[in-house]
Amino acid sequence: MAVTYTCTSCSRKITTDDVVYRCPDCAAPKGEVTTGFQRGNLSVEFKPAKRFSIGKPVDPLAFLPIPVKHAAGYPVGSTPLIAPHRLREKTGFHNLFLKLDSLNPSGSLKDRASLLVAEQAKAHSVDTVTLASTGNAGASMACAGAAYGLRIVLFVPGSAPRAKLLQSLMYGASVVPIQGTYDDAFALSIEYTRAFGGINRNTGFNPFTVEGKKTVSIELYNQLGCRVPDVVYVPVGDGVIISGACKGFSDLVKAGLAHKMPVVVAVQAEGSNAIARSWKEGREVVLSRTSTIADSLSVASPACGSMALDWLKHTSGRAVEVSDEEISKAQSELGREAGAFVEPSSAAAWAGFLKDRPSVDPSAVAAVLLTGTGFKDTAAAEKLVSMPEPCPAALDHARRLLEEHYR
Ligand SMILES: Cc1ncc(COP(=O)(O)O)c(C=O)c1O
Repeated sequence: MAVTYTCTSCSRKITTDDVVYRCPDCAAPKGEVTTGFQRGNLSVEFKPAKRFSIGKPVDPLAFLPIPVKHAAGYPVGSTPLIAPHRLREKTGFHNLFLKLDSLNPSGSLKDRASLLVAEQAKAHSVDTVTLASTGNAGASMACAGAAYGLRIVLFVPGSAPRAKLLQSLMYGASVVPIQGTYDDAFALSIEYTRAFGGINRNTGFNPFTVEGKKTVSIELYNQLGCRVPDVVYVPVGDGVIISGACKGFSDLVKAGLAHKMPVVVAVQAEGSNAIARSWKEGREVVLSRTSTIADSLSVASPACGSMALDWLKHTSGRAVEVSDEEISKAQSELGREAGAFVEPSSAAAWAGFLKDRPSVDPSAVAAVLLTGTGFKDTAAAEKLVSMPEPCPAALDHARRLLEEHYR
């Protein structure tokens, strides 16, 4: 099925059945990763396969460029949108929502992209998908690979959280930890695909990764009673999730279902702030190093940086930076006061909301995307809580433990 792509750098249109990655005119030779913001990202043109009825919930999969045929074996999406009563009370935002995308099959929003790439592989009779990841995209593609019967070759920085790598191995992926950064893994995985074939799922590099993630916005529209939120908070590393979410809202507008784009706020960690700095300084900033507890946001040279910046302009959005301390506090608060156990990268979005809220009308419908589960990064949680030593199984000991440990 032919798909039309538009280059976000030169606006060239390409209509093709083939798997394509970046614009041949604008991208670096052979699609290599350079040390600047990447040029020539391709955006999929929205051609709805069917007509939609205004005011009625819509099928998120109907917004995707190719048919999804195997969704039942890999049930992505339909994640809960919760009304966090205690946090609403505390913040004074009575139309605040948390989207628990941490409850996708592999535990992160990345499953939305992996679903579409797995379908892409099946449609092209390809049996290998290669990618680089800070952890979640790899675990997600590995999960999809298990469901679809695909071979997954995964390049990761050696420092990626162990649980995410174990998870990928459990799903049967071939994990290749490298002595280098995520950006090094990104470049190597493209070289590998070029040499050995198959499809490359690198986030932002394969345009279907942006496309797949837009279903989160279509779901928000359905869950909010066929309306888009006023403001959305998204944790940002490479800028793909935010670009996908914005594309989803934009497609809803194009389909005549929504009248406006929400304001979209990009939240970055202070120690990995390429997009936030670029936004504030009005020029593309690439970092020489990154350092944050939010490992999934740790990106020096964002694969989708230019696209994310364009969307911020288009949505009258902005970028917010949060410290590791604010992220940890937010992670505890989400756990204790909303029952949402998320990884630090997700908690960054909540920290971003807390920081940004003075500039938002408290009656606004505000949605915070919680993109990844906390169960995969228990090392981060260990720093926030302490486990008491077991006490004898007697009431007076139990009482003493409660008094002493939980004062
Ligand atoms: C849980 C989680 N949240 C947010 C992000 C950031 O997404 P992006 O790199 O598309 O900006 C990632 C990326 O790995 C992630 O795993």
